[in-house]
Amino acid sequence: MTTTLIDNFDRRVRYVRISVTDRCDFRCVYCMSEDMTFLPRAQILTLEELAMVARAFTELGVEKIRLTGGEPLVRRGIEQLVDEIGSLPGLKDFAMTTNGAGLVKYARALREGGLKRLNISLDSLDADKFHRLTRTGKLDKVIAGIHAAREAGFERIKLNAVILKNRNDDEVLDLVEFARDEGVDISFIEEMPLGDVSDHSRAETYCSSDQVQSIIEQRHALTPTTETTLGPSRYFRMPDSDTRIGFISPHSHNFCSTCNRVRVTVEGRLLLCLGNEHSIDLRAVLRRYPGDMDALKAAIIGAMPLKPERHHFTTDGDVQVVRFMNMTGG
Ligand code: GTP
Ligand code: 5AD
Ligand code: SF4
Repeated sequence: MTTTLIDNFDRRVRYVRISVTDRCDFRCVYCMSEDMTFLPRAQILTLEELAMVARAFTELGVEKIRLTGGEPLVRRGIEQLVDEIGSLPGLKDFAMTTNGAGLVKYARALREGGLKRLNISLDSLDADKFHRLTRTGKLDKVIAGIHAAREAGFERIKLNAVILKNRNDDEVLDLVEFARDEGVDISFIEEMPLGDVSDHSRAETYCSSDQVQSIIEQRHALTPTTETTLGPSRYFRMPDSDTRIGFISPHSHNFCSTCNRVRVTVEGRLLLCLGNEHSIDLRAVLRRYPGDMDALKAAIIGAMPLKPERHHFTTDGDVQVVRFMNMTGG
């Protein structure tokens, strides 16, 4: 059987983002609506199914797995899943994207289980503003989570900040200072039009990476680097710090031509692109042929020609993908 995954545009898939739950203890305004409903348990992949999907991808040449959600740390049994995936041969990078609130409890176990890197969302350093942006989040808990992650000795920690005009664009420099003080990296993200979040018009809050970059350059000279984590961030360095500044710019600097990733949604849908609906149903294969690794791998290989060339997100405020980010594996 083929051991690598290559799509019709000659892009090799090396990175899989697996969503382990659609649930979250936060309700970030750009990610969810206020009255979200979540999937019944029978519809989401079990921990055994998730581990089998991860193993299938590594046997097909995938080198990097990221667990996402929703919030991965609200999934019961997440430590066992991390242990299992952490010991898969062939995996070079194993990471998680989290809102950070559960890290005081879980950071050490995740690190011991083989997780190498953490990306922690942090959109504001002002407790009230943080609460308004996350609706339910508490800033001090996340800061304590960042400290717990540092103490647990992860290879690399990155903060993620989605910047929205007139909501948190005044905090860009403070966020950079915080990352420098903590000795961690930070990526600034352009908001993407997934799901009708109803809180705001995305046309009005759009803030381009170039705007964020020029704010940072008022204080720090930024030099582009070719460093990569195989993700979409374009990294820059400052002269006097190890902190890397990343920009994730789906609108202003399209990165689809070098895309190397696919996603598995919480329902086991193999989604070939964040901004399109092209997918196949891995859950159906897992449940029709329980334990049959060859059937699962054949389904994954068969999906590769479905990977579209690019997304077509615009910044005009229209919802282009009805699926919310928490379903998708943000
Ligand atoms: P690293 O492994 O540290 O490079 O992480 P990452 O940037 O790949 O992952 P993270 O979970 O931190 O995602 C940061 C942002 O990038 C989120 O808003 C993701 O939705 C977005 N992102 C990741 N991959 C893609 C992609 O293929 N297309 C688009 N449009 N956005 C993506
Ligand atoms: N656009 C851009 N980034 C988003 N995230 C969640 N929803 C969106 C969106 N609509 C971010 C989170 C987290 C990462 C997984 O995705 O802040 O850092
Ligand atoms: Fe939860 Fe992450 Fe979505 Fe915020 S962005 S509501 S932390 S899943």
